[in-house]
Amino acid sequence: MKSMSIIEESQKYAALLEHKPELGPAATFVPNKAEPVYNWLYYKEGFSKELVNWLLDYFSAQQTSENETQNQTTPKALDSSEFQLVLDPFCGVGTTLLACKQKGINSIGYDVQPAAVFASMVKTKNYDLDELKEQARLLLKKKFIRLDKKFPPLFYRAFSKYALEDIAFFDSEIREMGNNNDFFLLALINAAIKCSYVWKDGAVIKIRKAPKPPLRVMLRKTIYRMIKDLEASPQTGAHCVAEMKDARQLDLEPGIIDAVITSPPYLNNIDYTKVYEIENYFLGYPKPPLRSFIGFSDVEEFSELPASARAYFTDMKKVLYELYRVSKSSAKLAVVVGNGYVDGVIVDSDLLLAKMAEGMGFNVEKIFVVNERFALEERTKKKGVLRESIIVMEKI
Ligand SMILES: C[S@@+](CC[C@H](N)C(=O)[O-])C[C@H]1O[C@@H](n2cnc3c(N)ncnc32)[C@H](O)[C@@H]1O
Repeated sequence: MKSMSIIEESQKYAALLEHKPELGPAATFVPNKAEPVYNWLYYKEGFSKELVNWLLDYFSAQQTSENETQNQTTPKALDSSEFQLVLDPFCGVGTTLLACKQKGINSIGYDVQPAAVFASMVKTKNYDLDELKEQARLLLKKKFIRLDKKFPPLFYRAFSKYALEDIAFFDSEIREMGNNNDFFLLALINAAIKCSYVWKDGAVIKIRKAPKPPLRVMLRKTIYRMIKDLEASPQTGAHCVAEMKDARQLDLEPGIIDAVITSPPYLNNIDYTKVYEIENYFLGYPKPPLRSFIGFSDVEEFSELPASARAYFTDMKKVLYELYRVSKSSAKLAVVVGNGYVDGVIVDSDLLLAKMAEGMGFNVEKIFVVNERFALEERTKKKGVLRESIIVMEKI
């Protein structure tokens, strides 16, 4: 008898699909744009604080009801602080980490994009606000000195001559600061992007010349806004770690993670590193560094999938193995994924990853469909529907 292909087998997970369009906006970065601290670096690929909080509450409610079923006589009220350690192996700009920190939960995040890891780290650190204010005052009253600094070619198109002079001056002053210089460097990156002619259009950077405010003015505004954000943010003693590492090989002990909230790059997705060339330059990466890793492995299997999807699933299988290894038993996982249209074929990443995860020992409980869009060919021909979904599962 002919054995079923992984595509056929994965279709049985369609029974777990549950439509939740009300979560659609929260699966994007848009709500974070108005959220203090979360908005310190715009990251198109990110999801929102709202989504992380919703998932933490959902996991807690599940745990409470599991506990009540096990012990009918003395039900124990749980809240999300029951999660001692949350992991986001594709942490981007640290939305999962910051949301956990604000709830008093420890967290670890990894990513391969330098600017994203840097923003995650700066956003989740603890600061002495009086010290920051004094440093800000001293920095902003420094007398301007013109420095002779060479920038990568993109900078000469992306900035006015005056903006480049200010960048060179403040960059050098900030590097001299020692304590908290990462906070001020993120402020400079933010201010520089706002004063640039750069327009991020999908995977490419476009240049649109238009009048921009002086960089020094924007930097002042940004620094004082960031300090105000910290003043208004809930402070807890939770620890956060953000590091530049590959999710396919986690540097963690087995069985230590209570929950995972994450979103890997989507099948078919853009090369993230190119559009963050300016941000990464400030961190010592003069050229776009690594391409997003997921989808570049040597192909081992999944021969029935379109060729360009095979490497993606080979890599994601490695990631799922790692998540299984580092999770405690009963750990809760939420993985936000997007389906892709590859070589004329709709690939249901949500169902395929659910099938792979269950084969490794996860129990897939639900697949929440949060967004749907048309797969288009030649920009207008509709070829079917692509879902964006959250796979919710438990390690058994
Ligand atoms: C969809 S985004 C996640 C965004 C994140 N949820 C947020 O809110 O900022 C996927 C992330 O995976 C990162 N990435 C790609 N390949 C990776 C790898 N092999 N290991 C770790 N991170 C990777 C990308 O740099 C990107 O930041």
